[in-house]
Amino acid sequence: MLSQETRSIIKSTVPVLAEHGTAITTVFYKNMFEAHPELLNIFNHANQKKGRQQAALANTVYAAAVHIDNLEAILPAVVQIANKHVSLGVKAEHYPIVGEFLLGAIKEVLGDAATDEIINAWAEAYGVIADAFIGVENSMYEQAENQENGWKFFKDFVVARKVKESDNITSFYLKPADGSNVPTYQPGQYISVRLSIPGEKYLFNRQYSLSQAAKADEFRISVKREADNDPNGRVSVYLHEEVNEGDKIEVSAPAGEFVLDAAKTSPVAFISGGVGITPMMSMFETVATLTPERPTAFLHAARNESFHAFDQDIQKYTASMENAAYKTLYSDQPNGYITREVLQEMVDVTGDVYVCGPVPFMEAMIQELRALGMTEEQIHFEFFGPAVALQTV
Ligand code: HEM
Repeated sequence: MLSQETRSIIKSTVPVLAEHGTAITTVFYKNMFEAHPELLNIFNHANQKKGRQQAALANTVYAAAVHIDNLEAILPAVVQIANKHVSLGVKAEHYPIVGEFLLGAIKEVLGDAATDEIINAWAEAYGVIADAFIGVENSMYEQAENQENGWKFFKDFVVARKVKESDNITSFYLKPADGSNVPTYQPGQYISVRLSIPGEKYLFNRQYSLSQAAKADEFRISVKREADNDPNGRVSVYLHEEVNEGDKIEVSAPAGEFVLDAAKTSPVAFISGGVGITPMMSMFETVATLTPERPTAFLHAARNESFHAFDQDIQKYTASMENAAYKTLYSDQPNGYITREVLQEMVDVTGDVYVCGPVPFMEAMIQELRALGMTEEQIHFEFFGPAVALQTV
């Protein structure tokens, strides 16, 4: 338990740190990677270039510090981040390194304003927050390892099949290299893929949603090929161009909180934009197989027919279900957007809805679904990329 004095120092300095957020996090990452370049095997280099993750980590520390006496209040956010950490193989021994360089950066940026009192208070608070993350992550690792066919960290897989789904999406069917089965997972979960790309000094990690219902002996991911000049596209281009059937890649165990409640039989709708269709495929296939009588709607937005993946599969499942509707809109065509009217026609607002796609698409969908009277509990969504930082103040 932190002393009253420590708590008041923390609370009064959070706004100062948040104000210097960008400077602190820039110094933090620069110094940390200089001293520990091996951490570049874990962190996303493209996020580093864009400064996105930089803000996410530090902002979360500040946000958690505000709730230091009641970390349960931010537990859902901790669990979501912990899923990401576990999927990437973050270990307890990494926390003191992050702590040391975060505190060092605060000191460097604030200069004389960062008194020993302030630094000590933050060191104490960071320790409490780090322990909360380590505790949650340790139990997730344990659970992953104890699951049937489970493992922790990374395991070798082989690309069993590579199937083109549209002009820019290709599926990779992955099987454990040791011939074992895979653990079961919840529809909507993702895995991390870890690759060593020839000519690159550090490993690359990327998360991809599992894009089919759980199967005993394989995973499937479906990857969108990004532009050649997009630093975030390095892995997707490599997977599309260089990784072939028979090649080995490293894979982490399924993780993630954006999951279908497969036990429900109430109405459900899936709304996706572009490659956001991947977790929806896993969820939709699960409903089609386990609860085909469940009232289900699938709404998808694609640029045009050639970028439209999984159309035949969805049609096949829809036909085999008792109460399913499916509609795709092409943005290249007139009236090719999912409007409030389209949602009204397709979505049963008494049920649950799952949304996945690019951020502006998701924002528009969530806003319209709220306008139709759906509540926060009914609308489930997952943003790509680093989670939107918690509110600090
Ligand atoms: C991602 C917070 C410690 C490695 C994230 C995200 C947040 C966060 C908010 C974004 C989550 C998302 O994308 O959904 C924190 C906090 C920490 C902490 C509050 C300390 C208390 C660590 C440590 C490591 C680490 C010790 C390992 C050295 C990563 C990596 C990502 C990530 C690799 C993925 C994004 C990227 O690659 O840039 N963390 N983190 N974090 N964190 Fe942490």
